[in-house]
Amino acid sequence: MKHILVTGGAKGIGRAIVEALAAAAEYKITATYFGSNAAADEIAASYPAVRFVKVDLQDRQALAAFITDLLAAEPIDVLVNNAGLYVGKPFENMTLDEVFQQIDLNFTAPTQLIHGLLPLLKKAKAPLIINISSQAVHERISGEAMYTAVKTALSTLAYVLRAELNPEGVRFVTVEPFGVNTYGLDEPSSMILPEELAKMVLYAIEMPDHLQLDNLGISHLKQSRPDYPDWIEQ
Ligand SMILES: NC(=O)c1ccc[n+]([C@@H]2O[C@H](COP(=O)([O-])OP(=O)(O)OC[C@H]3O[C@@H](n4cnc5c(N)ncnc54)[C@H](OP(=O)(O)O)[C@@H]3O)[C@@H](O)[C@H]2O)c1
Repeated sequence: MKHILVTGGAKGIGRAIVEALAAAAEYKITATYFGSNAAADEIAASYPAVRFVKVDLQDRQALAAFITDLLAAEPIDVLVNNAGLYVGKPFENMTLDEVFQQIDLNFTAPTQLIHGLLPLLKKAKAPLIINISSQAVHERISGEAMYTAVKTALSTLAYVLRAELNPEGVRFVTVEPFGVNTYGLDEPSSMILPEELAKMVLYAIEMPDHLQLDNLGISHLKQSRPDYPDWIEQ
């Protein structure tokens, strides 16, 4: 039975991934949470295959202790770096705390997890690291400078690590969704649903062991931008 680690597994996209994995009944799941205590308890009570661990991913020492515990236990087959934080604000209006929070949670924590868990992942038959990045990487939207910068770093890290570590059997999938309705917005018909994204992550986890899937760029059809620029003759 594959052992899968999902960060931020009690809320939003991470919760949908954990529930999809648990429903498949083929995996053992370790998930982290930080603030979503009640949801973590509720999910663990519903699915015996899911174990939750409370970790502040912005706290480097707490994360190092969590990694040490994992290294002393059983192998991990798949790491899903999902936890992340979105702050949409003009750069100069962000506090320095918000700037560093974006870096710490969206880039430093996944990097620390990849670095720390590689020795354990390499013991698995077909190790896989899935990073939830964002379409922001390609859109370059004003007001998302820090988010775009750190997600670009996360996507790029995986593209280069793929070259370094594919020869040792470690695979990387970068998931780059457009807006996913984890905000409880009333317009689910124009956004990706968390459950839909979770199915794509499951697809990546279930692909044959010898396949390297670089990127899953996903958007809802209504999130396309059909406007032609002025210089295009129609
Ligand atoms: N929603 C979108 O439109 C969208 C689009 C593209 C990419 N993404 C990416 O998808 C991922 C999940 O997004 P989401 O929409 O599901 O976000 P969300 O609903 O806001 O959930 C954020 C997750 O991050 C965890 N988290 C936040 N701060 C933490 C900390 N200090 N320590 C540990 N965990 C912490 C939360 O855990 P607790 O609740 O337990 O604290 C929660 O599980 C993120 O990486 C995000 O950038 C989202």
